[in-house]
Amino acid sequence: MEFTGAHILSIKQFERADIERIFQVADSMEPYALRRRVTRVLEGAILGNMFFEPSTRTRVSFGSAFNLLGGEVRETTGFQSSAIAKGESLYDTARVLSGYSDVICMRHPESGSVAEFAEASRVPVINGGDGANEHPSQALLDLYTIRKELADRGRSIDGLRIAMIGDLKHGRTVHSLCKLLCLYQNVHVTLVSPVELAMPEAVLESMREAGIDVVISQDLANGIGAVDIAYATRIQEERFASKEEANQYRGQFRLNQAIYTQYCEPNTVIMHPLPRDSREDANELDNDLNLNPNLAIFRQADNGVLVRMALFALILNVADQVDKYSREVTWYNGR
Ligand code: CP
Repeated sequence: MEFTGAHILSIKQFERADIERIFQVADSMEPYALRRRVTRVLEGAILGNMFFEPSTRTRVSFGSAFNLLGGEVRETTGFQSSAIAKGESLYDTARVLSGYSDVICMRHPESGSVAEFAEASRVPVINGGDGANEHPSQALLDLYTIRKELADRGRSIDGLRIAMIGDLKHGRTVHSLCKLLCLYQNVHVTLVSPVELAMPEAVLESMREAGIDVVISQDLANGIGAVDIAYATRIQEERFASKEEANQYRGQFRLNQAIYTQYCEPNTVIMHPLPRDSREDANELDNDLNLNPNLAIFRQADNGVLVRMALFALILNVADQVDKYSREVTWYNGR
C-alpha cells in the first residue's frame, strides 16, 4: 500500500509486505523509544488525539510516539469536553479538527464512526478503536510482539499456535488480530470463550477462507495446552446492556501461575491487550504471573510506542529522515 497520507482504519487494508515494512520501521525506532537518541523530524507537526472512550495505553502511547518524533499533541478526551456534546456532527468535527492537525488519532464507541470521520477529514486518520469493530494499531503491536517473542525462541509467525481467551464477541483487539493472522501461513487459532461471547461469524469466515486452522472451545485447560501464545482478554463490560449481564461471565477463564504450570507448555508466552481486570471477581491474569518471564504484557505495551512511531513516520513520509534530524540525549537515562 501507499502509506503516505493514508488513513489507518482497518487491518484489512494491509498486505503482508506492508506489515513487514511497518515492523522494519518500528525496529528502527528503538533508540528513540528507549531515549538513547532524540529526533526532531516532526518538529512543527501536530497530532489531534481524540478519545471519546476511556484509554490509557492507546491515547498516551500515540501521544508519546508523536512527541518522540518531535511533534506536538492536542487532545480531546470524552464527549463532554467536545462540542459533540452540543450536537456537532462527526462531519463538522472532522472538517474543523483536520484544519488544526497534520494527523488525527480517534477512538469512538460506535463501530464505523472513525471511518465516517475519516471521510470528512482533510488529514490522515488512525483508528484508535471504534466500538467492538476494530483496533488496528493494537493488532499491529500484538503481532510485532508475537514476532519478537517467537524470534527469541527461534520461531516465526508462520506456524503460530495461539489461544485467544475471554470476550471474543466484543473484543475489538482480537477481531483485528485474527484478520491480521490471515496474512500468515500454517496458523492455528484456538478460541476459548463462553458460547454467548464467541468470535463473530464474519471473523471466523475470514480466518477459514485464509486457511487458518480454527478450534472453538469452552475449556481453558484444553485450549491453552499446546500453544505458543495464550492471549487473554477482558470482559468488555461497556459493550453489555447492563453490568449484571457482564458479571455473569466475569472470572470464568482465569489464568494464574498454578494453571499455567499445570496446562501450558513451558515457554508459552502470555499476552493481553490490557487493561487486565484485576478486580477480585474477574482477575483474568493473576498478579502471581508478574514474575513469570513469559508474561509479555508490559513488553507488549512498550512495543505500542515503536509501532505507533512507525505508523506516523510512514504516513507523514519521514521514515527515512528520522536519523538525519537526531542527536544523543543530554539527560540521565536510567533505563
Ligand atoms: N489496549 C488498549 O487499547 O488499552 P487502552 O484502552 O488503555 O487504550
